[in-house]
Amino acid sequence: MTVPVDPEVFDQIMASLDAPMVVVTATVDDERAGCLIGFHAQGSIHPRRYAIWLSKANHTFRVALLGDHLAVHFLTQDDHDLAALFGENSGDDIDKFAQCEWAPSEEGPPLLLRCPNRLVLRRTGLFDEGGDHLCFVAEPVVATGTGPFTPLRLSDVGDLEPGHPVDERPSPATTRASD
Ligand SMILES: Cc1cc2nc3c(=O)[nH]c(=O)nc-3n(C[C@H](O)[C@H](O)[C@H](O)COP(=O)(O)O)c2cc1C
Repeated sequence: MTVPVDPEVFDQIMASLDAPMVVVTATVDDERAGCLIGFHAQGSIHPRRYAIWLSKANHTFRVALLGDHLAVHFLTQDDHDLAALFGENSGDDIDKFAQCEWAPSEEGPPLLLRCPNRLVLRRTGLFDEGGDHLCFVAEPVVATGTGPFTPLRLSDVGDLEPGHPVDERPSPATTRASD
């Protein structure tokens, strides 16, 4: 018989990892989206692959599903204000890009000019096991950086309240027929 996982132990292990924080951006047609995330990782070396997990409650999730590229901006210790802008507000309510400097990438997703350490990704796969986040697997097509940097970490943004609580229901367009 499988012993159920103690969620507190699981959460404590995850908190100890102290994930680096990034802002993911996406676009489709004239619509831009972006949010702060902690769920992201390299997933393969040959070929190089990067995976990100987006909450089905988020505006960014809906735009990312329709687009074929994403940009991932690696935040540094100087970027708490950007983390707050993209993590505490929703594109459902405000235009976050009116409050920061950005430029379109050749591939589409907006690039945050404050964040020189970034990847542009082309989506290669999606994985949805029916949970609250969906996994986007992607190939890096552009990588720019300034050399080693100290990331902004989960423990640096404990004061932030997500703009969309994860237990919000997804939009009807992404709700499974069986729900
Ligand atoms: C510390 C922190 C970590 C977060 N991690 C994720 C994450 O891994 N994936 C995600 O989809 N949202 C994550 N969020 C939530 C979104 O950043 C937040 O709900 C945002 O307001 C959504 O914006 P949008 O509706 O414009 O996409 C996180 C928020 C915070 C404060």
